[in-house]
Amino acid sequence: MWRFANPVAIHWTDDLASLLPSLLPPGQGLLIAHPRFNEAARAGLLPGSLAGLPSFSGIETNPTPDQVQQAIDFACPLAPRWILAVGGGSVLDTAKIVRLALAHDCPSVRELLQAVPPETGAERPLLIAAPSTHGTGAELTPWAAIWDMKSNRKLSLSHPGNYADVAVYCPALTHSLPLPVSISTTLDALAHAMESLWSRNGNPVSVELAAAAVGAISENLELLADPVPHPVRENLLRASLLAGLAFANTRTAAAHSISYPLTLHLGIPHGIACTLTLPALWRINSPDMPIQAERLRRQLGHEDVAAVLERMLRFAAKSLPIRLSAYGAKPADLDSLARESFTKGRMDNNLVDLSLADVRAILESIF
Ligand SMILES: [Fe+2]
Repeated sequence: MWRFANPVAIHWTDDLASLLPSLLPPGQGLLIAHPRFNEAARAGLLPGSLAGLPSFSGIETNPTPDQVQQAIDFACPLAPRWILAVGGGSVLDTAKIVRLALAHDCPSVRELLQAVPPETGAERPLLIAAPSTHGTGAELTPWAAIWDMKSNRKLSLSHPGNYADVAVYCPALTHSLPLPVSISTTLDALAHAMESLWSRNGNPVSVELAAAAVGAISENLELLADPVPHPVRENLLRASLLAGLAFANTRTAAAHSISYPLTLHLGIPHGIACTLTLPALWRINSPDMPIQAERLRRQLGHEDVAAVLERMLRFAAKSLPIRLSAYGAKPADLDSLARESFTKGRMDNNLVDLSLADVRAILESIF
């Protein structure tokens, strides 16, 4: 028995300015955007009617509780009827939490992390999520990550009310993405698709979506150059959409679980941190998932999937380090990194159970 569902309406457009007015309800709006989506970018891509829209641009990457609180504090006095979020996962996740706060009479982010209170009947603003990276998938998931750097913890606010109402994909939004960010966010989408294949919650639909996503990423990742050709952006954005639909249903697994301490302690960009372990995890998981493995091999036209993943990592290495030691890790750190790699809901979603020794050996192999 299996089930596949996603409540987010998906729009794809080359003309955001023409599409948006048809999606927005009347009344006060709010823009939550990455700083890169600056005034010039807005003037070029948003309809003229949105000039002067109140905007919050205080989130770049890995939002902290304080930064998310600033966004809530900015939004609550405005009481917007709708929120347009333009950015990567950090911005989209912040927008989800802001919308959740607005729907519950503006509790603090700390209160929301403890427990989402009952709804007060306050009107729930419409949330339109427009990704400006081809990786995150956050526009399709009900989770929002917050990075508490003071206590070295990655927190997750998972709530059905976190789904965006609408996801708008416009390839032009990704044009200003610097090459290293283009590569690392593409690798994040790759990890979402691969993890969806070895998730314990996979189903025939998620397997098809994930295989198609990995195939498209394998064909397009190495075409990322400066500047990135528009068709490559389109292909990678479509791949991240497919991967997003897959892992929104299945959740991620060991690679993401192991990535969190790597990002918290070593500052490794999320997309890199969750891809470094994929070849090792493929070797561990694939014997236990013959149907998924065969489907992916057929998609890639290649028997050795680990070799394909390693080829993609070698391409990434031209722009970003792919060894833990290059990010300042010391051999003595491996034990504690391994111990912190067991996030509930992620590691226990991995098809094959991993021991502490297994994880330490994987970390040693990418040291
Ligand atoms: Fe991810």
